[in-house]
Amino acid sequence: MSNATILIADDDEDIRLALNLLLSAEGYQIIEAENAKEITIQSSRQKPDLVLLDMNFSRDTTSGQEGLAILEQLQPLNIPVILMTAWGSIDLAVQGLQKGASDFIEKPWNKLKLLTSIKQQLSFSKVKEQNQGYRQLLASEQSKAWICQSPSMQAIESLVAQIAPTDANILILGENGTGKSLLAERIHQLSARNQAPLIAVNMAAIPDNLFESELFGHQKGAFTDAKQNRVGRFQLADQGTLFFDEIGSLPLTLQPKLLRVLETGQYEVLGSSQTQVADARLISATNADLNQLVTEQAFRQDLLYRLNTIVITIPPLRERLEDIEALALSFIDKFTAKYHKPALTISLCAISKLKQHNWPGNIREFSHVIERAVLLTTATEITAQQLLLENTDNSNDAVLLQPLEEAEKQLIEKAMKVTNGQVMEAAKLLDISRNALYRRLEKFAIQHEK
Ligand SMILES: Nc1ncnc2c1ncn2[C@@H]1O[C@H](COP(=O)(O)OP(=O)(O)OP(=O)(O)O)[C@@H](O)[C@H]1O
Ligand SMILES: [Mg+2]
Repeated sequence: MSNATILIADDDEDIRLALNLLLSAEGYQIIEAENAKEITIQSSRQKPDLVLLDMNFSRDTTSGQEGLAILEQLQPLNIPVILMTAWGSIDLAVQGLQKGASDFIEKPWNKLKLLTSIKQQLSFSKVKEQNQGYRQLLASEQSKAWICQSPSMQAIESLVAQIAPTDANILILGENGTGKSLLAERIHQLSARNQAPLIAVNMAAIPDNLFESELFGHQKGAFTDAKQNRVGRFQLADQGTLFFDEIGSLPLTLQPKLLRVLETGQYEVLGSSQTQVADARLISATNADLNQLVTEQAFRQDLLYRLNTIVITIPPLRERLEDIEALALSFIDKFTAKYHKPALTISLCAISKLKQHNWPGNIREFSHVIERAVLLTTATEITAQQLLLENTDNSNDAVLLQPLEEAEKQLIEKAMKVTNGQVMEAAKLLDISRNALYRRLEKFAIQHEK
């Protein structure tokens, strides 16, 4: 890979110059850094393809500790690092390799060795990147079916195809379990950023006092509990996507802190005065009514305007009945595979029952119902009864107060009806033995096959 950019990190100007001449002549683009601060800025801004890192950084230190610390900071960026160590400091080189360096060379360097190592590391990292993309694609295709048969979901599909490749900020709205998180993942996969990570942040789950440290990171010692450096979510999502889940739960006091980075594209790691540039595409999601929150002055309007360039509202499941059958089949496949069950079908009656249910928990609830039915079914077809959806739409008021015997008779009649008179199945539904059911069928003179 000629044209690759290499960061030369050495405090000795003569060495930088010598390396610069050697590597430029080979067609590489060169950037230089002479201290730890510059290395961090240059590597996060210019995103070099490889770093050549001197291990004995400050002239008066020879322990290499500073080099190791820099190496650690570079790790999240996933850039191959070749260490340059003084001749004879093999221990240090080994420590460096254990901390994630790709290779090391000894100073004074052998030109051929140096050039070969650079070439190798650049091609390894390319293969690694391709594999990662491929694995992500495989994982997403195998486990994350995305059902969108209904007209409303089809409309969302074409909008997504249009906007996913852009960097537009997206706000996803929808009730619990409608697929907001899954859609965010899909948009990331369909975007040009899919080689970099999608980093999710649940805004409801971050304690107020850790908010800035979570988002922007901190340096060791920035506050009492900051025992180690911490990489913030903005940096982890560099060149990728940041997913702010439950954005409606972000406390009003913290909203200006988020607003600032969205407005300026810049932030500071806590404990550092160095300004970082944010390069992440933003997707947010909530089941709250943000406009209502704005009216109640619980959510800042200016922040909302930063987030909602494109709004996608996923309709509740009860309003997209055309998706139900496909969802059922897809979840049946998923759960029969998960529980190593033989292939299963689902009865028409069961499908129609699924369509009548109200689904307050939307697809998440739907998936649990199918999972349970797959577990309960011993035959080859899931029937309406196995969905166990009775009484979910009404409360217990539907149960009439009546003599116990009468209630028992009605329950048995019902079980026989929904199982089409299959005593075995009816007994299972009532959780009694087959013989116990036979005795009651005789007692109440309910028709049945002997
Ligand atoms: N269109 C779809 N096709 C197939 N499965 C889906 C679809 N939408 C959602 N799911 C599945 O339904 C479940 C719930 O989806 P998800 O977690 O994305 O919902 P959510 O809206 O983010 O929920 P919450 O409001 O709780 O955050 C997941 O298992 C997801 O894989
Ligand atoms: Mg979610």
